[in-house]
Amino acid sequence: MLSFFHNYSMLSFFHNSSLGGAVAALLLGACMAGCGGSSAPEPPGTVARLSPAAAVGAQIFSDAGLSASGKQSCASCHDPASAHAQPNLLAAQLGGADGTVAGFRATPSLRYLSATPAFAFDQDGAPSGGFDRDGRARSLADQAMRPFLAPHEMANASKEELVGRLKGASYAAQFRLVFGAAILDDPEQAFDRVAFALQQFQKEDPAFHPFDSLYDQFLAGKAQLQPAQLRGLALFNDAAKGNCSACHTSARGADGAAPLFTDFSFDNLGVPRNARIAATADPRYVDLGLCGPDRSDLAARADLCGAFKVPTLRNVATRKVFFHNGVFTTLKDVVGFYARRDTNPEEWYPRAADGTVLKFDDLPAAYHANVNRSEGPYNRQAGMAPALSSGEIDDLIQFLGTLNDADQPQPAF
Ligand code: HEC
Ligand code: HEC
Repeated sequence: MLSFFHNYSMLSFFHNSSLGGAVAALLLGACMAGCGGSSAPEPPGTVARLSPAAAVGAQIFSDAGLSASGKQSCASCHDPASAHAQPNLLAAQLGGADGTVAGFRATPSLRYLSATPAFAFDQDGAPSGGFDRDGRARSLADQAMRPFLAPHEMANASKEELVGRLKGASYAAQFRLVFGAAILDDPEQAFDRVAFALQQFQKEDPAFHPFDSLYDQFLAGKAQLQPAQLRGLALFNDAAKGNCSACHTSARGADGAAPLFTDFSFDNLGVPRNARIAATADPRYVDLGLCGPDRSDLAARADLCGAFKVPTLRNVATRKVFFHNGVFTTLKDVVGFYARRDTNPEEWYPRAADGTVLKFDDLPAAYHANVNRSEGPYNRQAGMAPALSSGEIDDLIQFLGTLNDADQPQPAF
């Protein structure tokens, strides 16, 4: 946490400071190039200084030798060139020993996760926080253990098998140096340290939270947005139009902290079923998010079935697929779905033999009432005008394009 908040407060300090713009920009530029833990800005081009554990974590993150296939690392699915999300159009990635075992969910970005609170119910009983799309992992370390053993991901048969692979890694000596000479003789402890190292890497490396998008520059008063982007921003925040900021926070916090474009809450959008998820070949298969099947502790909470975590929208224009099941491949479809889910359901859902539109076709009928229909933009009914026109949707997409980090391709305007 330390390093993350350090970077974070450093940015907000510059945003609020009375330093001359040029000086602030210079310091900010230096920080972007790497300010992994010291209070003095480093010269541009300096590699971020990571703690010893995080430096080992960086090696583990991109080591395909730790998978059963020998071909898959964390970085294969969470590709830095795709803002640490999936690099391809598959709805869910393939893994396993021979690289043919299909996964169940689209791969989320690992950027801007460090400030995610642990999963909890707030005083109103609303769930929030946690890692994974159903919030089931308590911490980044807890989360990091799963992919190594998941049969559809890196597919080690046991912790022992993983640690056996680690012993052959080029950085095994470095791992021993950081965590103790005998660490690799104790698979339980070693596995625990692997997860810790990955957590520290994600927390400390500024590449996971650079806060250097055009929108960040705009908030800092250092860049202007185009008219269409400004219109999109207004629609994003307008409760009677997009209402996006009700869940995807767009304004700085009271403490000046840069917005993360998520409030860490969960919601049920009634996202269409995606036949490109292999498991859906079985009509009984449904991914109900908070209430299972991946998450097991809330199985009795029928009211939470179908709810998924609100993801950050930073870098969303670089995503190849959208929503937990990757059902959409363009932002035009995503924002169109928000605006016209209820006014034009036939655009999004299949029809039954008798012509009826099968609304919310990825949820058993018992859970249809869980779908959010009370909040804009999805508080409409058939026959009403959509909350957003097609031109307004285009403007919203132009605004979303301002959320790409500086190392990502910038959308052409
Ligand atoms: C085969 C592709 C694949 C591999 C390999 C993989 N992941 Fe993931 N990752 C996913 C998917 C899919 C999810 C969403 C899982 C869910 O919601 O249940 C995810 C979720 C996560 C999350 C939670 C993100 C959030 O929004 O809460 C983190 C953190 C993460 N992965 C880190 C890692 C690390 C570290 C590794 C390497 C040890 C790794 N992943 C390997 C596909 C992959
Ligand atoms: C009531 C809360 C809520 C509101 C309002 C809301 N969203 Fe979302 N958004 C979510 C949730 C929850 C998800 C994840 C759903 C899933 O994975 O099935 C999501 C996902 C997304 C995604 C997909 C991101 C990804 O990485 O897959 C985009 C894009 C998006 N929202 C944009 C918007 C826009 C634009 C608006 C306003 C028009 C908006 N959202 C309004 C809750 C909300």
